[in-house]
Order: sequence, then C-alpha cells, then structure tokens
Amino acid sequence: MKTLDFLCRAAWKGLAGLLALTSFVFAQEKTGTAGVPLVKLNNGVEMPRFGLGSFLQPSEDICEQSCLTALEAGYRHFDLAHAYNSERALGRAVKKSGIPREEIWITSKLWPTEYGEGVTIKAIDSMLDRLQTGYIDLLYVHQPVGDFVGAWKDMEKAVRAGKVRTLGISNFDANDEVFQTIMDSSTIKPAVLQMECHPYAQRLEMREKAKAYGIQVECWFPLGGAASQGALFKDPVIKRIAEAHGKSPAQVILRWHIQEGFSVIPGASNPDYIKENIRIFDFELSPDEMRQIRALNKEQRFFNASLEDVEKMVWSLKL
Ligand SMILES: NC(=O)c1ccc[n+]([C@@H]2O[C@H](COP(=O)([O-])OP(=O)(O)OC[C@H]3O[C@@H](n4cnc5c(N)ncnc54)[C@H](OP(=O)(O)O)[C@@H]3O)[C@@H](O)[C@H]2O)c1
Repeated sequence: MKTLDFLCRAAWKGLAGLLALTSFVFAQEKTGTAGVPLVKLNNGVEMPRFGLGSFLQPSEDICEQSCLTALEAGYRHFDLAHAYNSERALGRAVKKSGIPREEIWITSKLWPTEYGEGVTIKAIDSMLDRLQTGYIDLLYVHQPVGDFVGAWKDMEKAVRAGKVRTLGISNFDANDEVFQTIMDSSTIKPAVLQMECHPYAQRLEMREKAKAYGIQVECWFPLGGAASQGALFKDPVIKRIAEAHGKSPAQVILRWHIQEGFSVIPGASNPDYIKENIRIFDFELSPDEMRQIRALNKEQRFFNASLEDVEKMVWSLKL
C-alpha cells in the first residue's frame, strides 16, 4: 500500500513538474534573429521589438553602411521615414545583404505634405519605388497635423492592395483630440504608436491609453536622443546597474525598454554602437533594478516643441 502511495505521489509530482515546465515555455515570448522578442500586434502580425533607427544618419552612403552593419549584427527591423532620407539606403542594404525580404521588418513614415485622399496613395507608390522592397511592413503618419484622416483612408487602401501590412500613428500623443480623431475615423485601427519614451520620460498616462486599444508602444529617443548629450548615460543609477552586469549604460537602458514591453529603435551611425546596442538579449535586469530605473521617471522630454511649432516646421520641410 505504502509503495503504491509513493508511486502515485511521484507520478503526480512528475506531472505537476511537466505542467509547470510547459507553462514556463509558453510564457516565454517568441524570439527571432539574435534573440529579439517578437510581439503579436492587434492585427495578428508579428513584429521584432528591437530595430535600428535612422534619424540623423550623416549621409545616404553612411546610412546604407549602418543598415548593412546592423543586418550583419542580427538586426531585422528598420525604422525609416521619407523625412530621414533613409529608404533608398535601406533598400540597397537589404539587396546587398542577401537576406530574404520576408525576414526583415521595414517601417517608414509619410510626411504631412503627402497627406490627403488621392495624394497619399501616390506617395506610398513613390515610397515603394524608393525602397525597392516590394511592400512595407509598418507605415506611420509621421505627424498629427494636416489631413491625416484623408491620408489614413489611402493607407487603408494600400493595406487592402497588399502594399502595406500594418498601420501606425507617430506623435499622436500630442493631445487627446488628434488621438481620438484617428481612433474614431479609422476602419483599420492603428497597431503601433511611436512616441518619445525613455527612463526620464516614461509616458505612463499615454501608455495606459494605448494599452486600452491594444496598441503597441514604440519608443523614439530611447537613449535620450542626440539632443540629450548623453544625460541618461551619466545617470548614477544606470551607471551602477551597468557596472553590476558588465554592460554599458546604453545596453542597460535598452534592456529596460525591452523588459517594459516596448518596441525600441535606437539610432546609431557609429558601427560600434550599432553592434553594442543589440547585445542585450544575454542578460536580464532584476525586478529591483527595473524598479530603480522606473523610479527615475520625471516626465522630462528632450523634444519640447509644441504641436503649433511642429506644424510650422512641417510645411517648411521640402522633401
Ligand atoms: N516619430 C518621430 O517623430 C521620431 C522622432 C525621433 C526619432 N525617431 C526614430 O527613433 C529612432 C531613435 O531615436 P534617435 O536616433 O533620435 O535617438 P536615440 O536612439 O535615443 O539616440 C541616438 C544617439 O545616441 C547615440 N548612441 C547610440 N548608441 C549609443 C551607444 N551605445 N553609446 C553611446 N551613444 C550611443 C547615437 O550616436 P551616433 O549617431 O554617433 O552613432 C546618437 O547620437 C530614430 O533614429 C528614428 O528612427 C522618430
């Protein structure tokens, strides 16, 4: 009787262990190249949560080289924009790399001078011409000014035509009105919101709002941007955590973004930075370290122009 009891208990423990292991495996996020986690967006499409930003690349040739360095290092997500003049460079790098197009996530953004029904559809075709990549994985309206409602209608047509897979809103954290307008007027809902977000401006309110609609947050200026002059890298808390892990402050900040659930697109043209930034999938910040970085939040942004200022700047930029 005792033997039977022992065997039953051992079998039960074995089963429980197996169940725990199964749920652990399923709780793990799916990963892609270089261990980059993939997020399933609200349209069912999977996007790598880490990529290369391409704002302020010094020239088209350097941008192409940066994209190639990134592809070699394992990056499979690129954040472009018509306004950054980075689309042709990425298109060339993809071809040179020989990596199949379907393995790469390509994001770009329409500038407000390209907004409007009938206008935007032509702008998307021109974008596809510049890219030479067949289709766009994620297309943003770059700024919430001008006829973004008309632009969205054409963007929806481009999705139905198979030219674009996913639609996103960039800088629609500017105010409630622009966010609500796009939510109310769209048939295909935004899947991703791009906004400035980093340890000093953690954007708690806007994150809650996005979450309510199942919108993934993607952070620009994840390292504070060039304008911050490395302010985040000098933070004593970040420096201490970096030393404890034998990592750089930039790696700790990017790891924090990943563990917060963000999609993150650090920009760099320095090849050493490009390679360093993706080496963040071999360590983990503890719950206490995450708490310490969360405590740095002071909602201090490094880009402080009002929507009115942005609007003035938008029309003066000729693409
Ligand atoms: N939707 C929008 O309106 C919007 C606005 C801004 C940005 N974005 C997107 O978001 C991306 C990220 O923003 P961002 O590039 O402006 O800012 P960021 O990623 O926060 O910072 C980029 C700056 O940090 C430097 N850097 C990168 N890695 C580093 C490292 N490991 N150690 C030290 N310094 C490092 C870069 O230097 P080097 O350049 O010298 O390599 C560059 O000066 C952009 O590239 C763009 O794709 C979108």
